[in-house]
Amino acid sequence: MPGQCVIGLQWGDEAKGKLVDLLTEGKDLVVRYAGGANAGHTVVIGDDVYKLHHIPSGIINDGVQNLITPGVVINPPTILEEIKQLADKGIDVSTRMKLSQRAHVVMPWHVLEDKMWNRLVSGEDNIGTTLRGIGPCYADKVGRSFAIRLGDMIQDDFPDRVRRIVAVKKQVLSSVAGDDMELDAEAIIKEYAGYAKQLASMVTDTNRILLDAVDQNKSILFEGAQGSLLDIDHGTFPFVTSSNSSGVGISTGSGVPGNWMDQILGVCKTYATRVGGGPFPTEQDNDKGQHIRDMGNEYGTTTGRPRRCGWFDAVAVRYTARLGGVTSIALTMLDVLSELSEIEVCVAYDLDGQRIDYFPAHVNDLRRLTPIYETVPGWQTDVTGARSLDDLPVAAVNYIRHLEKLIGRRIEYVSVGPDRAQTIHIKESVKLDEYLQTRAV
Ligand code: IMP
Repeated sequence: MPGQCVIGLQWGDEAKGKLVDLLTEGKDLVVRYAGGANAGHTVVIGDDVYKLHHIPSGIINDGVQNLITPGVVINPPTILEEIKQLADKGIDVSTRMKLSQRAHVVMPWHVLEDKMWNRLVSGEDNIGTTLRGIGPCYADKVGRSFAIRLGDMIQDDFPDRVRRIVAVKKQVLSSVAGDDMELDAEAIIKEYAGYAKQLASMVTDTNRILLDAVDQNKSILFEGAQGSLLDIDHGTFPFVTSSNSSGVGISTGSGVPGNWMDQILGVCKTYATRVGGGPFPTEQDNDKGQHIRDMGNEYGTTTGRPRRCGWFDAVAVRYTARLGGVTSIALTMLDVLSELSEIEVCVAYDLDGQRIDYFPAHVNDLRRLTPIYETVPGWQTDVTGARSLDDLPVAAVNYIRHLEKLIGRRIEYVSVGPDRAQTIHIKESVKLDEYLQTRAV
């Protein structure tokens, strides 16, 4: 069953794109199944840099069909801008990408609502969303009556639908939006009818394509967006995104049965970051955190916001690896820690004087935690040129082995820099304990 998945195990930005790029080769289909324009990945082709939000990274690989499935929320002007960027460089997206009729559309009122709700909640309760209208769009999806799916945009009753929804949204929003209220139904109908025309040839029933692909035993790569700790049901609620961004979302978001996924690669950094509000037990709001931010260039792709940085939280990653049915791990950004003489790893928490080794469900418990750290020696050697375990200092391999034990999953890839070549693949037959003995002399 050749269903392979790449998911993030922290709060997003785990450098999943690079692994997707590596694994795309030889695949028939690449699928983006959750989130929307809140995600951002940078694709580098030669000297060209593309900033993509919806389009799967697989688009740069000729011969791969790319699908955006029902779990995604699509912002038409943003995706058209991505298509144009790629077309300007000679990449024809229209023949190599299909969009689900069932995917919901982020409409202008969703962006307005995101801004309004963000303004109404202050201090530590503020989620700090990307302001891309993601939450309000998913809220309307679940509410149903005021939702618009991509398939609706090409129906004859689309204008009436917009008029009806705009009338209600205006009523609801008028008391909070004030001068920000710019909802002109006729202008929106005209603008979105134009987008619909441009997207129409790509809009189809991706469920049929995928279920046929499953019957034909084709190879499919599922590209996760955001990270598991941002999952609406299983993450650090309410400081989460509005989709199932953990492994459990692959099936609901794509429409492919869960028992068809045979490999789930969980991606995590050698440290931790998060953008926006919410609990972050191992956060280092100090010089150490700043050092990680500088070395890892930890600034948001979508919003440019500085990311909050901290130590690796093994309790959190063990939780999301188990939740997602992860079969192996890709550990990214090893090079970012290279200058440190000592590295901290969170191995358990103290909650009200009790040592716990699980990830609490309630935000108030998460806020009260004190991480319990183990200190491991750093390697203080540049590792960006390493291409195999033999090229790494023993202290770096020790760190990898330590994380492997704490997470409870095999580490299969170690990334030491942004380039495709800066990746170490650890074969299944290599046991790190035994390997380290060979380095002990
Ligand atoms: P929303 O998805 O825009 O509603 O934002 C909700 C939370 O998820 C905020 O804390 C965002 O910073 C975070 N978030 C959403 N998408 C990403 C992402 O791609 N990387 C990291 N954080 C994200």
